[in-house]
Amino acid sequence: MEKKSPLPLNNAIANKKKEQLCSKESLVKILRWHFRYPDFRGMQLEAIQAVLSGRDCFCLMPTGGGKSMCYQIPALAKTGIVLVVCPLIALMENQVMALKEKGIAAEFLSSTKTADAKNKIHEDLDSGKPSIRLLYVTPELIATPGFMSKLKKIYSRGLLSLIAIDEAHCISSWGHDFRPSYRKLSTLRSHLPDVPILALTATAVPNIFEAGMLFYILPFFRVQKDVVDSLQMQNALMLKTSFNRPNIYYEVRYKDLLEDAYADLSDTLKSMGDVCVIIYCLERSMCDDLSAHLSQSGISCAAYHAGLNNKMRTSVLDDWISSKTKVVVATVAFGYVFPFNFCIFLQFMLALLVVDIYCILYLKML
Ligand SMILES: Nc1ncnc2c1ncn2[C@@H]1O[C@H](COP(=O)(O)OP(=O)(O)OP(=O)(O)O)[C@@H](O)[C@H]1O
Ligand SMILES: [Mg+2]
Repeated sequence: MEKKSPLPLNNAIANKKKEQLCSKESLVKILRWHFRYPDFRGMQLEAIQAVLSGRDCFCLMPTGGGKSMCYQIPALAKTGIVLVVCPLIALMENQVMALKEKGIAAEFLSSTKTADAKNKIHEDLDSGKPSIRLLYVTPELIATPGFMSKLKKIYSRGLLSLIAIDEAHCISSWGHDFRPSYRKLSTLRSHLPDVPILALTATAVPNIFEAGMLFYILPFFRVQKDVVDSLQMQNALMLKTSFNRPNIYYEVRYKDLLEDAYADLSDTLKSMGDVCVIIYCLERSMCDDLSAHLSQSGISCAAYHAGLNNKMRTSVLDDWISSKTKVVVATVAFGYVFPFNFCIFLQFMLALLVVDIYCILYLKML
């Protein structure tokens, strides 16, 4: 049984009182009523207000930051159905179960459902007044013509209030979980214009640091751009929660402002004292070139990339781990496991592809 909401959900009233609907007070009431949380976290409220007012929104929040709330609250605040695109069936099952336990009418459609269960959901969707508030589906289902025509019918009846794309980084081949089927979500906008789109992801700095990935600036902007472009999002509100972490310090240096970037880098390395350093480059030739430059300026340094044979690579790695070599200039072939207390990542040549910068990242393992 769905709990009675403290707010009026009648369409006419909701339209009339759109402003009131989007007010913090009303939304907090819904949050407290259904979820028993005292207040919104991070940028949840901004995201919710944006989509309720009909605006597209791109929302970057850390893992566990509460992204789901950004579409669950709109589903409860407004009449109609919120469509949630989710990459994993297990994720859908968990969320739907948790929502049902709270008395919220949520369902998911997937291959794991029996024909009977699917029919019941479709019957509800076809009914004059569907009870379902949140419908979770896979991107693969969206790509089927049958389901798209169902969505169009719901839309034409004015019952589709929001499309939420969870784990939206799956759209981008620059993301760490690229799913080709997410690309097909680009048809949503043309088939269902006017329905606000909410794209949610945690992909960016934190996961990349945690996974030890390196070229974070480039993928971050690419993922964001890919998501917005691919979903044809219009004038989207871009929300990004700060990922500030006290154990990470970074500094961006503009090569234009440096007389000699190589000299600057070697001076920086020398001033750092006894620390382990990895300098990531995009290409093997850059690794060799930079390693030669640094060695010439008296820094104990070695290149590491897939162009070296196994024996050579093992020897570079051993020397670095045992501190015989202070600096490794590597491509991603080096991997990302750091058994040290203090590491520095330098992304030297990344700059050449983006703007003329290089970036110093200090990661202190706490
Ligand atoms: N305003 C809030 N106050 C307290 N807890 C909240 C709030 N919003 C969400 N939560 C809780 O935070 C937890 C994480 O939420 P959620 O799963 O939506 O995070 P997420 O950002 O989607 O994370 P992930 O990137 O792992 O998918 C959940 O238990 C959720 O109920
Ligand atoms: Mg989530």
